[in-house]
Amino acid sequence: MAGEDGDSEGVIRRDRFSGGPARGFMSSLAADERIFEADLAVDRAHVVMLASQDVIESEVASEILAALDEVEAAGHDALSGGEDVHEAIEAAVIDIVGPDGGKMHTARSRNDEVATCIRYRLREDVLSALDAALALRESLIETAAEHTETVMPGYTHLQPAQPTTVAHFLCSYERAVARDCARLMCAYERINQSPLGSAAFAGTPFDVNRELVSDLLGFDRVMENSMDASATRDFLAETLSALTTHAVTLSGLAEDLVIFSNKGLVELSDDYSSTSSIMPQKKNPDTMELVRAVAGDAVGELTGLLTTLKGLPRAYNRDLQRAHKHAFRTVDDVAEAAAVAAGAVGSATWPEDELAAAAGDGFSTATGVADLLAMAGLPFRTAHEVVAEAAARSEGTPDVATLDAVATDVLGESLFTHVTAEAVEAALDPTESVASRDSVGGPAPAAVEATLSTARDELSDDAAAVADARDSLAAAAEGLDEEVSSYV
Ligand code: ARG
Repeated sequence: MAGEDGDSEGVIRRDRFSGGPARGFMSSLAADERIFEADLAVDRAHVVMLASQDVIESEVASEILAALDEVEAAGHDALSGGEDVHEAIEAAVIDIVGPDGGKMHTARSRNDEVATCIRYRLREDVLSALDAALALRESLIETAAEHTETVMPGYTHLQPAQPTTVAHFLCSYERAVARDCARLMCAYERINQSPLGSAAFAGTPFDVNRELVSDLLGFDRVMENSMDASATRDFLAETLSALTTHAVTLSGLAEDLVIFSNKGLVELSDDYSSTSSIMPQKKNPDTMELVRAVAGDAVGELTGLLTTLKGLPRAYNRDLQRAHKHAFRTVDDVAEAAAVAAGAVGSATWPEDELAAAAGDGFSTATGVADLLAMAGLPFRTAHEVVAEAAARSEGTPDVATLDAVATDVLGESLFTHVTAEAVEAALDPTESVASRDSVGGPAPAAVEATLSTARDELSDDAAAVADARDSLAAAAEGLDEEVSSYV
């Protein structure tokens, strides 16, 4: 039976609410393309559950499920009317099945429906972002493994500080991306819970089986409180904040690569560079600049989401329609940025001679000389004073004779009453300096090898966890298909 205007949408909305001048403003149908497939899965699981609980007749379930196949084959673009994808799909089902199609919406509301669709879709997107982050970790690890002995300058305040290695530098970002992954995997656990069966917020008198629907859709568990389940978007805040933190990590890596390529300390491959439309000699690190900029967008999206959520009363408010786009935009951007960073890192060239020459710039071995004197028994503060004075008296790195002259002035005795000339020479050499700093997590090649082995173990554990999550989603989708085919 159609509404007075003769269409099924009229049945759903009733004429009073068929939309006036604000209809376009209220509609999320175009943006809902992202959750079109999710909505079909949610509809199917709900209908299967309703039939298995005898809330609707099996024959009606069969007709609705067959209609959903038709709707899927026609695609999102074929939907018309309706404030959103949920209403438009229901209208299409009623068009095909007739009034019995309206039984699909028994014991639910668009409130629990949309919350479930967002979670259903976002899980997949987060797994894709995790894949990109895992590939970046692999690229960082494999590149680092080739460069445990490649000495380079390390900076603080953008000034040469102490020599380190390319491997130590790359591992510093690998560790950060590993934590980004851990945060995303935690967020995934809280995304992967089912709100369906909460209805508008206040539950339903129908004998629904919330566990069954949750299992059919591959969720880990049912969300208990129905008001919380349909209203909360804290999972979006948590996921988007993990993604934004990851984007900030990527922006640091990108910035370092921009700076290093400016100094001739790394060369990005042509695939990850661009040129100027006017200056023929230019090779610019545009990809890294774009990766750096993604963090700005992510911060903006997170701010938009949190500001929308702040102060929203329970239970459902239409503001929520504008909440999830922030997470969907960011998850795409960040996954792409991580994939580009992985490619750029894996294909870059680290010029060993230039790096070695720059490693000692700005008397970067000064701390090592002070450490040497302190290891020989001088208070570190006194050793620091001697080396600082030697630095002040020389242009670049002071030689052994200058250090000895300063020691004689400051300490009243020769440097060589404490250390040998050879030991000082060694401390002044960037490669020896790196090799000496073999504390846990330090840049000495053996220490970095240990970090690399931890990193490899954690990477394979995380890759297995992501593969498991994907497998269980695929198994649930298969199970749902089987249930559906027993009706159709
Ligand atoms: N399109 C809406 C959204 O995304 C669906 C829920 C509408 N519910 C309502 N009570 N008006 O939030």
